[in-house]
This record gives sequence, structure tokens and C-alpha cells, in this order.
Amino acid sequence: MVIGQPDPCGLLGPRGGAPIVGLTAYTAPMAARIDRHVDFILVGDSVAMVLYGMETTRTIDIDTMIRHGRAVAQAAANTLVVIDMPFGTYEHNRDVALSNARRMLSETGCDAVKMEGGDSLAGTVEAAVADGIPVMGHVGLMPQRARSVAQMRSRGHSDTTRRRILKDARAIARAGAFAIVVEGVVESVARDITQASTVPIIGIGASVACDGQILVTEDMTGMFDAFTPRFVKRYAEVGKIVEEAVMAYASDVRNRRFPGPEHTFAKRGKKAAG
Ligand code: KIV
Repeated sequence: MVIGQPDPCGLLGPRGGAPIVGLTAYTAPMAARIDRHVDFILVGDSVAMVLYGMETTRTIDIDTMIRHGRAVAQAAANTLVVIDMPFGTYEHNRDVALSNARRMLSETGCDAVKMEGGDSLAGTVEAAVADGIPVMGHVGLMPQRARSVAQMRSRGHSDTTRRRILKDARAIARAGAFAIVVEGVVESVARDITQASTVPIIGIGASVACDGQILVTEDMTGMFDAFTPRFVKRYAEVGKIVEEAVMAYASDVRNRRFPGPEHTFAKRGKKAAG
């Protein structure tokens, strides 16, 4: 079984080289920091949970996504930028999906959209690609279908779900997606999809078998620690560093150690005559 055609948009380069590196960004400063170090940036709808404290990704609206997409695309001059289509903007009506996708790309400057869905979304993906809209797919665990964090569990443990996920990936690749995110699936499923696929498979919680990896930047840097999925490796503890800085600042202010003379404007003296 061969999934899809070779990378139709050429957006993530030829396969067979080093694994593809992706990270999320929601803001210009973060995009500027990661721009030169990754192969693509995702303006993920995980912004709902990470920046806005929402329980799931289902409640973020298209205007908010567009504001974040614009900020990221402006700051990331070197990297492919993909933006998530938010829940409710593409699943039910193909024309609405295409019009929202066009709007998201034209108003943000992002390069591609990402849509969650399998077999039943393939027609929409095909129509979008035919309309010149580059689409990244997303199968396996699809967070937009979860009504709570508890429902965000790994997939592909039974033969039925394994077949379902493989079918979804095949349908989305055949529809013309240039890459597919596979989230939260057991390793053997990720390996089967990747081996059968001619478009890059980007894993998150899907093992080293994939063609590339993506993580939420705030997860891997320790900035977001409300909960940390098992598949996240923490590369830093930025949240703790921020808290320590805040405590030091508060203590300095309360003890009149800040601001010091070096942070204070002294009145300019008159120029000496002659
Ligand atoms: O919204 C997001 O950040 C995502 C990634 C986790 C793949 O979809």
C-alpha cells in the first residue's frame, strides 16, 4: 500500500534526508527565536490552551487565529509557516472551508493550512489543493474532537483503530496534502503509515518512526506546565526561570534595591562655558 503522491507542494523538501523539525509559535518574539532552527512553524490551535487557558482547542475562533498567524508569519522570514484551521471552520461545508482557508492565508501571510480529519475530510482537502491552497493533514488523535483533556488519549491500540488511522492517512495523502501530522498513536501504527507514505509524516507522540517531529514550544521549554503529555521531552524549565526572576524583582522593589542609579535619569547639567 502506498499512501499519496510525492510531496506535491515540495514545501518540506525531498524525503530520505534528516528528519523534519517542526515547532509551534503563536507570537512574533517566539517565531523570531525559532525561525532559523526549524523546517516549519505551526501556528497551532493549541494556542487556545497554552496562551488563553481554555480547556480544549475547540473554542478558539478564526479571528484570533488570524491575529496570531499574522504575527508569526511577519516574524518568520525563513521558515514555512502552517496555520491550524480552527474547529468549526472547515468540517461541514466545502465552500465555507475553502473560503475560510483562503482568508486565513491571505490575511496572515502563512504558507499553508492544517486541517484535522481523515477519510470524510478528503474531498475538502482535494478541493482546497485544487484551488491552490497547500494543506497539511492531521490524523490519529485529533484534539479538536476532544471535549476535555481526558479524551486526548493515544490511538491505534486495536486492529480496528489501526486500520481506521491508516485509512485516514491514505485518504488525506491521496487528496493532495503535502505532509501529515500523526498525533498520539502507537509506534507500530506510526511506522506502518510512514513506510507506506510518499508524503512526509510528522509525528507528535508517534515515535521516532516518523519522517519528522513537532512539539508545542511551550511544552518542550517548560513554559506551559498545567499538564505535560507523556510524549513531551522537556528541554528547559523556562517557567521556573520566569518565576525566579519575578520573585527577585518583587524582592528588590520591596527592599528599595530597584531601581538603582544606573536605571535612573539624572537631570542633564549645563555645558561648561568656554
Ligand atoms: O495545535 C497544535 O499545536 C498542533 C500540534 C500539537 C501538532 O496541532
